[in-house]
Amino acid sequence: MTQATQQQMRAVILYDSRTSGGSTDKLIDSIGRELAKTGAYVEKARCKATGDYSFIQDFDVVIMGAPIYYLLVSSQLLGALIQSNLKKYLRRKKIALFLTCGSPEPMATLLYLPQLKMHLVRNRILTEKIFAPQQLSDPEAVESFIEELSEAYKKDTRRRNASMQWTDEALALLDAIPSFFRNRIKIATEEYAEEMGYREITIEVVEEAKAETGAL
Ligand SMILES: Cc1cc2nc3c(=O)[nH]c(=O)nc-3n(C[C@H](O)[C@H](O)[C@H](O)COP(=O)(O)O)c2cc1C
Repeated sequence: MTQATQQQMRAVILYDSRTSGGSTDKLIDSIGRELAKTGAYVEKARCKATGDYSFIQDFDVVIMGAPIYYLLVSSQLLGALIQSNLKKYLRRKKIALFLTCGSPEPMATLLYLPQLKMHLVRNRILTEKIFAPQQLSDPEAVESFIEELSEAYKKDTRRRNASMQWTDEALALLDAIPSFFRNRIKIATEEYAEEMGYREITIEVVEEAKAETGAL
């Protein structure tokens, strides 16, 4: 039995910038506003290299980005990927990447984006965008970033709904969960099952996912 529901995206914008109220802060606000218009639940969080990222468990999409300073992605985001528990909690999360920088897009794609992507080889990257100076002041650039992200998210959800079968018993277990948590647990279980190569979600798979992911 397949359960196909249109789910609300829960996204966190994880970002860094040295400049308070600078171009990245403004961009984050525009991204948040534009994404909220699509019906998504959005929060933002500024990165600290030594932060605790367990809160990421509450989200299914992580929008991640920062400015480039002296050829490197801003240090708190890069540091968090290297030395904190961020990578652990990013496991199975869908990602959207962005950078703000002074370089033209082809150079940024070649030199800067790989600094983030090398830490995300096992993640599904839904979309990525370079915000060079001319894009930073262009509202259409943010709109198209969010449009691409929403489309990729919907496509990913449709693909997972189509490929994942729930047994009646497992579905009954899911239905017994309070509605507020149900969708998040459904997504976490399906993402776990997908990673493990399971095509059917049984009660055993739900239990296994619960033990492995902490969902439920
Ligand atoms: C000190 C400094 C160094 C920078 N180094 C680079 C660089 O190496 N490559 C680049 O493309 N842009 C560079 N930039 C441009 C910034 O990435 C760009 O202006 C970004 O939008 C700044 O974000 P912010 O306003 O949030 O600080 C640099 C800017 C500053 C202030």
